[in-house]
Amino acid sequence: MKLSKNYWSSRYQEADIPWDTGAVTTPIKAYIDKLTNKDIKILVPGVGNGYELAYLFNNGFKNVYGLDISKEPLQNFKNQNCNFPSDQLIEDDFFNFEDTFDLIIEQTFFCALSPELRPLYAAKMDSLLKPNGKLAGVLFSFPLTTQGPPFGGSKEEYQKLFSNTFDIKTLEPCYNSIKPRMNNEYFIILKK
Ligand SMILES: C[S@@+](CC[C@H](N)C(=O)[O-])C[C@H]1O[C@@H](n2cnc3c(N)ncnc32)[C@H](O)[C@@H]1O
Repeated sequence: MKLSKNYWSSRYQEADIPWDTGAVTTPIKAYIDKLTNKDIKILVPGVGNGYELAYLFNNGFKNVYGLDISKEPLQNFKNQNCNFPSDQLIEDDFFNFEDTFDLIIEQTFFCALSPELRPLYAAKMDSLLKPNGKLAGVLFSFPLTTQGPPFGGSKEEYQKLFSNTFDIKTLEPCYNSIKPRMNNEYFIILKK
C-alpha cells in the first residue's frame, strides 16, 4: 500500500529522498535558537535523517527523541551521530506511539501523510503533548491536490483542522524558509 512502512523504506533504499535538505533548515534552526529551557522533552516525528534532531542534541537539548516508521533513516542517523542515545530513537508508527512531550517539531511529516489522516494527526498530536505543550514547525502552503506526497494545504484548512484542539499562536507565511521552499510554507506554533 502506498505510504506504508515499505513505501518509505524503499524511498530511502533507492535514495529517492528529495525532501532531505542535508542540514537543519533555517526556520527550525531559528525557532530552536530562541528556546531557553534545554531540559524540555522534545519529539521529532517522521524524523528522517534527523538534521533537526542532531541540531537539538548538539546544542544542549538532551531530552530529545526521534521517531520514524522506517528503519533506514534511523540507521543513517545512528551512523552519523554515534553519541546519540539509541533508546531515544524510536522505530514506530506515529499513530501507535504513546508518550508525552513539551514540544513536538513538525517538518515534512504532516505533508507525507495521506490527507484523510489529518484529523487523526491533530488528535494524536494533542495526545502526545503535555498540558501547555507546543507543536511547532512548518506546513506547506501550496494547494492540496491528489498528487503527493508532499500534500499541501491552505491557511483556512489548517485553522479549521487545529483550532478545536489547539490555541493557534502562529500560522503565518514563513519568512526564513530555505530557498526551494520559499513562499511555500507557513510557520506554525500551536499550543495545547
Ligand atoms: C518526507 S519525509 C521527511 C523526513 C524529515 N522530517 C525531513 O525533513 O527530512 C517523511 C518521513 O516520515 C516517515 N513516516 C511516514 N509515515 C510515518 C508514520 N506513520 N509514522 C512515523 N513516521 C512516518 C517516513 O519514513 C519519512 O522518514
